[in-house]
Amino acid sequence: MMNLQGKTILVVGGAAGIGQATALLCAERGADVIVADFNEAEGRATAQTANGAFVPVDVTDETSVKAMAASISQSHGKLDALVQTAGILKGAYVDLEDFELATLRQVLDVNTVGSFLCAKYTLPLLKKGQKPAIILISSPAAYGVSSSYAYAMSKGGVSALGTTMAGKLASQGIRVNVLFPGGINTFMKRSVIEEDARRKGQDPQAALNAATQTGMGEPEGVAKVLAFLVSDEADYVRGSVSTR
Ligand SMILES: NC(=O)c1ccc[n+]([C@@H]2O[C@H](COP(=O)([O-])OP(=O)(O)OC[C@H]3O[C@@H](n4cnc5c(N)ncnc54)[C@H](O)[C@@H]3O)[C@@H](O)[C@H]2O)c1
Repeated sequence: MMNLQGKTILVVGGAAGIGQATALLCAERGADVIVADFNEAEGRATAQTANGAFVPVDVTDETSVKAMAASISQSHGKLDALVQTAGILKGAYVDLEDFELATLRQVLDVNTVGSFLCAKYTLPLLKKGQKPAIILISSPAAYGVSSSYAYAMSKGGVSALGTTMAGKLASQGIRVNVLFPGGINTFMKRSVIEEDARRKGQDPQAALNAATQTGMGEPEGVAKVLAFLVSDEADYVRGSVSTR
């Protein structure tokens, strides 16, 4: 299926996990893929496998996000889709009384401010694209299913940003979707499962095995949904989408 032929797709956070699987699948389906991440080694490797380009970015740093957009403007001149997957989860299982403000700010900075900056600075490029789409990644954490106060708050902000953009940008022909993945087998999720097991005095590996057996999804599964959402076939999809 080559339904992404002719599309230029930016995957921010594409060095690992859901973003990496998405970059690779979009490339397989014919897209010209740009991987952006602050993990340069893995980001470049993913871009190379995807036959695409790599741009370094720290999504918390406005200058860096601006530079990413400027570099893409020079190399590609447009974007047909932004998939913003860069994210972190910190402060799992920390009680409210012990929760450090610095941790809260760090998580909000990457997940929420990062999504805002990426959307803001790629918008001029998306306006030059064909049937452009912006996909942000929220989480069921946004409605309270979370191990971390900071992560929950950050994802609430991502959802609010995405649904607000969906309304405001529709008149400019830009479709915005917010994706809510379930538990997915990535570095982020594995760290939380291991941390929970250690906290309970259990074997982290056994906990990981149990999670896999009880339905934890794989990044490739979410990538199939994201590759659909950036395609023209998703033209009628509006707002929020949930996956396993
Ligand atoms: N794994 C899950 O179960 C799950 C569930 C719901 C939502 N999500 C969300 O999906 C998205 C992808 O998560 P994942 O599970 O693939 O995690 P991951 O840790 O495997 O990948 C996250 C990527 O983001 C990059 N990144 C982190 N901070 C960055 C920064 N400041 N600037 C640039 N890049 C940065 C990392 O280098 C990494 O490549 C995240 O937004 C996460 O919150 C994940």
